Amino acid sequence: MHFIVTGGAGFIGSHLTEQLLSDGHYVTVVDNLSTGSLQNLPEHPHLKVLIKDISKCQPQDFNEQIDGLAHLAATPSVTQSWLQPLKAHHNNLSATIAVIQLCQSLNIPRLVFASSAAVYGNPTQLPISENQQTYPISPYGLQKLVCEQYAKLFAKQLGFSFVGLRLFNVFGPRQQPNSPYSGVISIFVNAMQQGLPITIYGDGTQTRDFIYVKDVANGFTKALTTHLKSGSSLICNLGNGKNTSLVELVDILKTCFPKHQLATNFMPARPGDIQHSQADISNASSILNFKPQWSLKSGLEFFVEVP
Ligand code: UD1
Repeated sequence: MHFIVTGGAGFIGSHLTEQLLSDGHYVTVVDNLSTGSLQNLPEHPHLKVLIKDISKCQPQDFNEQIDGLAHLAATPSVTQSWLQPLKAHHNNLSATIAVIQLCQSLNIPRLVFASSAAVYGNPTQLPISENQQTYPISPYGLQKLVCEQYAKLFAKQLGFSFVGLRLFNVFGPRQQPNSPYSGVISIFVNAMQQGLPITIYGDGTQTRDFIYVKDVANGFTKALTTHLKSGSSLICNLGNGKNTSLVELVDILKTCFPKHQLATNFMPARPGDIQHSQADISNASSILNFKPQWSLKSGLEFFVEVP
């Protein structure tokens, strides 16, 4: 099959591209390289890379029959969405509408969208199921939610099938550690490798559902290839299904890497931080046959060995 992966040179998109290629598929990556890098991608005879903003793509950019599109290109930052809401709106929401139009003009039968647990805001119950009320507390979360709603509407109208995957806390190789708003694991691993202290905001009892990036790539692959009815829409959480506190995370890092020093500072909790998060993944497991293969520990061990 031939798939388009938008944001395919980025953290999650590049792992998805690798998995699709290793499963024998053809892939066209579309990426404007604003945060992604060509170094994240392998050289492969079945891989084409189009360096372009997805919202500027035309149907004639693609010559082949496309069997599915995974849309991961975005400004994936809550902070940026507060600082530059119009720009984030363009990159997150308007770009998704451009993708939907591309699905229409190229007759693409499946759209899979990288949504976020941010659509829930403060969870009212754990684990969080897809039926839980959505109440985004950032422009980013709101943009992801409205993207899902646009895609659902157009899936029904145009007859393609849509899967929105609500990602929890993804970690693994190629996640950028160098912003204060990067994922906590990339920041901690980077500090550990450089012998620098880490900072825990709050008392460290807050929990997150950490999912290894290769499991996320696998979830996307299943969402692209599982048979679904034309015009149907499916929303699935994509997490590990377990929650781990930051204190437990630090303990796991210490056992995995006994030779590294890990000095820990505590600072006041970040404003707007949620206390607990854990995905109910029964939708993904029953409909997409998704099962996480990596624990936090096995993912961390592999991650730190991979350069
Ligand atoms: C994550 C997403 C965010 C999304 C949200 C949805 C990332 C980077 N962010 O935010 O886009 O809206 O899920 O629920 O994936 N922390 C420290 N020390 C650090 C860095 C972080 O203690 O150096 C703490 C944070 O205060 C937080 C926890 O670690 O309590 C997790 O932080 P982070 O990785 O940024 O993810 P979320 O806040 O869950």
